[in-house]
Amino acid sequence: MDKNQKGQKIFPKAFLWGASTSAHQVEGEPLNDWSVWELEHAHVLAKTAHKRLGWLPVWDEIKHQAEDPYNYISGRGVEHYERFREDFDIAKSLNLNAFRFGIEWSRLEPEEGMWDQEAIDHYKTYIAELKKRHIEPMPNLWHWSMPIWFTDLGGFEKKANLRYFERFVQKFADELLDGVNFVITLNEPNVYTTYGYLTGDPITGMWPPAKRSLRKSLLVYQHLALAHRQAYVILKQAKPKLQVGLAAQLANIQAYRPHNFFDELSTKVMRYGWNWWFLRRVRNEQDFVGVNYYFSDYYTGLAKRKSPSVPLNDMGWYMEPEGLYPLLLRAWAHYHKPIIVTENGVADRHDQYRQWWIEESIVAMERALSEGVEIHGYFHWSLLDNFEWAYGWWPKFGLVAVDREHGMKRTIRPSAKWFAKRIKDLEVD
Ligand code: BGC
Repeated sequence: MDKNQKGQKIFPKAFLWGASTSAHQVEGEPLNDWSVWELEHAHVLAKTAHKRLGWLPVWDEIKHQAEDPYNYISGRGVEHYERFREDFDIAKSLNLNAFRFGIEWSRLEPEEGMWDQEAIDHYKTYIAELKKRHIEPMPNLWHWSMPIWFTDLGGFEKKANLRYFERFVQKFADELLDGVNFVITLNEPNVYTTYGYLTGDPITGMWPPAKRSLRKSLLVYQHLALAHRQAYVILKQAKPKLQVGLAAQLANIQAYRPHNFFDELSTKVMRYGWNWWFLRRVRNEQDFVGVNYYFSDYYTGLAKRKSPSVPLNDMGWYMEPEGLYPLLLRAWAHYHKPIIVTENGVADRHDQYRQWWIEESIVAMERALSEGVEIHGYFHWSLLDNFEWAYGWWPKFGLVAVDREHGMKRTIRPSAKWFAKRIKDLEVD
């Protein structure tokens, strides 16, 4: 493939080929609500690991790590806060021309109303270093971790607290928009509200603030939609040409038995609730639709998930990379805004699936592009192995492996070398 019937390349010229990260998962030495929660829950997560994760195909290999409390502490991260230049050089060597990263609110405003100039300067340098390498920066303002003072005040449960987020966005807009053309406001509000406020998923464990209240989860969800809308206004006022969006977690939700009344109904409800509810609320305040895609979910009966059991990634997620295609089509049909795949990847410690996964994702995008869907970029999750939230350190999502036991040594995985070549082939000369 790669070319259309007229012999032209299918991916547009300015296509963003990038990788994604988030601050808390790579930077190191955080002081936010997550780092506190990790210290409080590391032991229980280690103790319950076998019960929660024993069924995974990789259990024997990860057991020693999963049963060790240190696995659940983000700690030094992968020292990306210090080593970002080295990491950008690696990204460049992989032919990436874009990079998504987090601006950690708890670093900018460690105490309410007190701005840390060093942290602001750090991110200024960070963005400048990306630009120097001709890598398009895509900062992300909220990827779940928050300042402790903010969550102590009730976080996004209280509408009145939105003014704090607004003030942070304004500060970012005042200080850090130089050289920036794309901004993501929020990452996956549906995942945060579900794991933080609704379920203590037996696999994922709990997430802060672990409230388990339907009422609160709905409030938080609504407040996050408001937060995005306000952020959009602030950012566009500061720089009208800025492209602003959010990263939505979309699952390829399908009926287990097509044409079965209950399976179809569950599918409709889940598609709306999980995929589209939030995006619908912010449809007028986004310049692009950010899509994070990881899995297909098949539903049966009364919203019971029944996905095929092979092939599974290391975390037990059913892998269907081509499931990206129907989502691209639907997102385009609903909103008619350009789409950026803001995350897409696979937990794969042996690097046995990643190349296949990326190739299938490219095919899915080519099909969608050929049918008129506007796609402006693809960001692989992730550049580096990173801290996988309540799972800790054992899941490996990186194009680049990081050996935390041996000086944080970075090693480019074979699939990443292949991806780098693939990008060259796909680019318009
Ligand atoms: C999140 C990332 C996470 C990835 C893999 C996404 O939902 O945005 O933070 O690491 O999934 O689980």
